[in-house]
Amino acid sequence: MSIFKSHITRMSAYTPPLEGRDPHHHLLLDFNERTLPVSEHVKQALINYINDDRLQVYPSYGDLTRKIADYAGINETQVMITNGSDQGIDIIIRAACTEDDEIIIPGPTFAMYHQCANIEKLNIVEPDYTRETGFPVNTVLAAITPKTRLIVIANPNNPSGTQINREDILTIARSAPDIALLVDECYFEYSQATVADVVMEYPNILITRTFSKTWGLPSIRLGYVISHPDNISALLNIRGPYDVNQFAAVAISAALDHPEYTHQYVREVMEESKPLFEQFLDQLAIPFWPSAANFIWAFPDNPDVIEQHLRSHGILVRPKSDQAGRKGLRITLGDIAQTRQLIHRVQEALSTTGDA
Ligand SMILES: Cc1ncc(COP(=O)(O)O)c(C=O)c1O
Repeated sequence: MSIFKSHITRMSAYTPPLEGRDPHHHLLLDFNERTLPVSEHVKQALINYINDDRLQVYPSYGDLTRKIADYAGINETQVMITNGSDQGIDIIIRAACTEDDEIIIPGPTFAMYHQCANIEKLNIVEPDYTRETGFPVNTVLAAITPKTRLIVIANPNNPSGTQINREDILTIARSAPDIALLVDECYFEYSQATVADVVMEYPNILITRTFSKTWGLPSIRLGYVISHPDNISALLNIRGPYDVNQFAAVAISAALDHPEYTHQYVREVMEESKPLFEQFLDQLAIPFWPSAANFIWAFPDNPDVIEQHLRSHGILVRPKSDQAGRKGLRITLGDIAQTRQLIHRVQEALSTTGDA
């Protein structure tokens, strides 16, 4: 007999393949991270903080929330900072749902939604995204029942990269005003698609965002929730006062003072690397899902051979299967030189299988 709730003991941990990844020895195209280090301003701010002998003091965040609100073009009262956007997702699901409620999570998608839903013992309804038609808006609307408490919309979705129409999000928000709508804008800087401007009109919308991806700071964990101020006050009742560590606050504050390094990187990935890689896949007639983010989910005939060949040359990508069980490779795009290197190694792998 376990000392814990039985459903918790029966669950499996979410264990993404993190070990052994080394940016000095690998080209990391497997976690949708930024592939280049952060700017000198950010590094210097962290060094200064350590040298200032304040590690013995609990964190305090000063004007960080206001700076993030200014960046996002909203009011400070509409923001809550979190320990990565994973914590925002967890807090929103805990705040909105109780055991046996229904949660609609269109899939395939990011694993943490299922993990948090399973911890709360929710019933998961999972309509399918498709490569051809994208987000299943009608199936989502049809799946709403009196037991539905939350709908997840990852915009753009991971691993598919699918961008969701703003009108589809607002239609769902209007059709289900008493149901929480979690809009995960983790890849916002790439897609530039947001509903942050309408959170006052639609108080059931809760947006999560992060500094893990474009800003290049997943190691120190900072995310934020954007929503109506009443929701933010309620969610703050759950988040602990020190859940965000001081390194995150220091680094992100410095990053927001000099955002050029992020903008330049986003421009290179979206305007140079991604079109080049898409053109390469098109030439070889390798199917892939249309993506609004910094990654492409591609379905070559021989994903294992390609993955192994890339790995043997220090390039890591992420195998991910679709709902039909067909294995694809989710490949993060980095700068243009890295993308040329990637293309060269994929070509090599295909020539060994005679598919090039
Ligand atoms: C769609 C999506 N949401 C959230 C996250 C988690 O990001 P964070 O590092 O902010 O917890 C990820 C990470 O891969 C993601 O793909």
